[in-house]
Parts: sequence; C-alpha cells; structure tokens
Amino acid sequence: MVPMDDETYGDLQRSAREHLWMHFTRHSSYEKADVPIIVRGEGAYIWDAKGTKYLDALAGLFVSQLGHGREDLAEAAARQAKELAFFPLWSYAHPNAIELAERIAGYAPGDLNKVFFTTGGGEAVETAWKLAKQYFKLTGRPTKHKVISRAIAYHGTPQGALSITGLPPMKAPFEPLVPSTFRVPNTNIYRAPEFLPHTDGNADPEAFGRWAADQIAVAIENEGPDTVAAVFLEPVQNSGGCFPPPPGYFQRVREICDEYDVLLVSDEVICAFGRLGHYFGAERYDYQPDMITFAKGVTSGYAPLGGMIATDELMEPFRHGTTTFLHGYTFGGHPVSTAVALANLDAFENEGINKRVRENEGAFRATLEKLYDLPIVGDVRGDGFFYGIELVKDKATRETFNEAESEKLLRGFLSKALYDAGLYCRADDRGDPVVQLAPPLICDQAHFDEMEQKLRDVLSRAVDLL
Ligand SMILES: Cc1ncc(COP(=O)(O)O)c(C=O)c1O
Repeated sequence: MVPMDDETYGDLQRSAREHLWMHFTRHSSYEKADVPIIVRGEGAYIWDAKGTKYLDALAGLFVSQLGHGREDLAEAAARQAKELAFFPLWSYAHPNAIELAERIAGYAPGDLNKVFFTTGGGEAVETAWKLAKQYFKLTGRPTKHKVISRAIAYHGTPQGALSITGLPPMKAPFEPLVPSTFRVPNTNIYRAPEFLPHTDGNADPEAFGRWAADQIAVAIENEGPDTVAAVFLEPVQNSGGCFPPPPGYFQRVREICDEYDVLLVSDEVICAFGRLGHYFGAERYDYQPDMITFAKGVTSGYAPLGGMIATDELMEPFRHGTTTFLHGYTFGGHPVSTAVALANLDAFENEGINKRVRENEGAFRATLEKLYDLPIVGDVRGDGFFYGIELVKDKATRETFNEAESEKLLRGFLSKALYDAGLYCRADDRGDPVVQLAPPLICDQAHFDEMEQKLRDVLSRAVDLL
C-alpha cells in the first residue's frame, strides 16, 4: 500500500491532537508519540497511514467477523442508502428490520422471538434492564428491579449498563450510578484456589461451576428475591481475559433463575454471531436465556447495529390496551445497518462461517498453547475464536504483577511492542494482565502461526524486561 504523503500525515496528526477525543484513551500518551491512524483493511489485515501492515487479531474490537474489504457488505449498504437511507422504527417499520428480526429470532434458541433493535451493545443492555423492570411492574411483581452481574465483567458505558459493569475503577468517576446492581464471582477457575489442587493438580471444574452458580442464589437471597429482576452474564466473560463457563454452570444458573423468578440475560455483544462457532453462545453452552443482547458481529462492523431479543412471554403484557414500552433510539434498526446485517448473515450461511470456526478452533487453541513454554504465560483460555492469555510473574505459584509492574509491562512495553511487531490485539489489565485475541472468523492456520510467532517474540522480550 502506498504510504500517505508526509504533509497529509502531519496535518492529520496535528488535527487528531487538536480535535479528536478518542474513546478510553490516555491522551497524554499521544503528546509525543503518533496517533495510530488506520486507513485500509483487507481480509484479516489492516494498514496504517504509513503503509505498515498489521494482522488484526482483535477483529477491530470483537467486530469484524468476516474480515475487512468485503464488497458484498459495502454494496448492500450502498444499495439501501440509495433506496431509503433512513426511517425510524417508532411506530413504523421497514422491510429490512422486519426480515432481520424474523431471521435473528429463527437463530435464537427457544421462544426468543421478539427483537428490539438498538445501535450498539450498551443500548442493548439498557434495553434489557428497562424491559425487565417494566415487565415485572406489569405482571404484579413491581418490587423486582435489581440486577446481579459478575466481578470484572464489562457491560457498556450508559449509566445503567455501567452500573451493571463489575469494574469499580471504570465506574468511580461517574458515581453515583443507577442504584440496585450487585456483583457475584466470575468463572475464573485459574484464580479459584479453593478448587485447587486436586490429586492430578487440576481444578474440579464441575464443583467450581456449581459453587460459582450458587453464589447467584446467595446474592438473590441476600438482596431479597422479591427485589431481584435479572442476572446479566456473558457466555464467555471477556473482561479479565476470557472466562468460559465451567461445565454445568449455566444449567445451574437457569435452575436458580427459575426458582427465584429472576430473568437470565445472556449478554452476547461479543459472543454472538460466530465468535464461539454458533450464532449464539447460549446455543454452544446449551442454556435458555430470557433475553439475549447482541451488537458488534451482527454486521461484521460494516454498519453499527445492536439489539435485544426477548421471549414471547416478556412481550406479552405489552400487546394489550395502551401499554407501551416507552423506549427507543433514533438510529436503532437503521435501514442501512439492517441491510448490512442481512448480507452478513447471508455470507455466514453461504460460507459456513460457524462450522468453519468449530473446525478451526482446536488448531487455534493448540497453536496458542505452544506459548506455554514461555515463563510469563500462565494461562491460555477461551473457546471458539476468542482467547485470553494471562501473564504471570511466577508460573508455579501463579503470582501476578502488582499495579506498577502491570503498568510497566502492559502500557510501558507490550501494547506498543505488539503493535510494532505487526500484531493488532489488546493488552488489558482490567483484571490480572492478559493479552486478548479475537481474530476475524476467516482466519486459518497461517494466521494462527503468525499470531503465535509475533506473540512469542514480544513476550520473550517482556520476560527480559522483568
Ligand atoms: C459484553 C458487552 N456488553 C456490552 C458492551 C457495550 O457495547 P457497545 O460498545 O457497542 O456499547 C460490550 C462492549 O464491548 C461488551 O463486551
């Protein structure tokens, strides 16, 4: 790719510093260093303005399922923009929204048949909580309004979704948030010493899963079952570095939710649309939620879209008289975004994307597990095309890094070194330090090898730094 000329590049850098407020960004980092400016994508690769090529090992932000540069998706957007660029779903409909709602309902497990579109994941989470509250008010249980979620889990930035989020430092600047949310432990078995070690040195995943699920019952009892509306859980928790559910976890959670009349919301903003080799994570782990929230991969990022899928039962009270769900977004279910989503799902079907992920995930895991020979690699965990590599100071004791060490390791070295090595991924310390990988679902062994080699090179150098 031809690099941008120096003058245009310099102007963009200046302009970015003066005007662009980037998200979740420490702007002081860019006072001296250049802002990374990405200009093009093709398949699993992206290029910056200087013409440097990177393997996109995070699918943008868990988004670009089909990879970059797909003409079919771009053309679907252009066609729809020419036909009808915009109309809202406020008492009106358009064909794409109708068709997509039916299609998503067809993929969703059980009687999850009602689709409410938003523009992204945080709005989807807000929508689910608001629906849970109003549903219980309409059905004679008006005190049920609280939400239970898991430690270190991220559910978005709107004040309700942020309140559900289990990351205190991310919430502190904005307190007080929406009250009435409570945390339970997540399913990080690597950090569950009470289930370690057994005779073979390994944890007992089923006992751990039972224990972790039972903590939800304890929280419901502590809060009072008459006050709890919903539990929000990701199929695989992203924040903290990919915690898959132990066997039996979601089955036990379902039993608890049924017992206490609490709604189970599966937050699949990352996990849906192929990330785990299925349309929905609930399908992979065989549980039946009352609501699913989705976003990101539904369009593979060619336009913004999110949504909430509810059971028939949850919509039932809204089908009578003057009862209305007083909730919506101007751009929710946008005609262009829904057109793109339909084209994306066509490609999923025609190219067997979910099956492809299931066939390749073993190879992806095995390739990443080669990194276990590095002293800094403590745990490689995940499912599908969704992995976290936890970095540790001492592999034998699982000792983690303190705050200063973590800062030095992640922000001082890894983030930049990985990027300089041509690997776009994420070094994250919202929990213990991890490198997160969630590449486009079109990746194959050559891409897995490239990730492993680049990680090996950079992580080996990180060891020297310590
Ligand atoms: C599980 C989960 N829920 C909600 C969100 C918020 O989505 P958005 O950034 O589209 O608002 C995210 C974003 O990464 C997420 O991972």
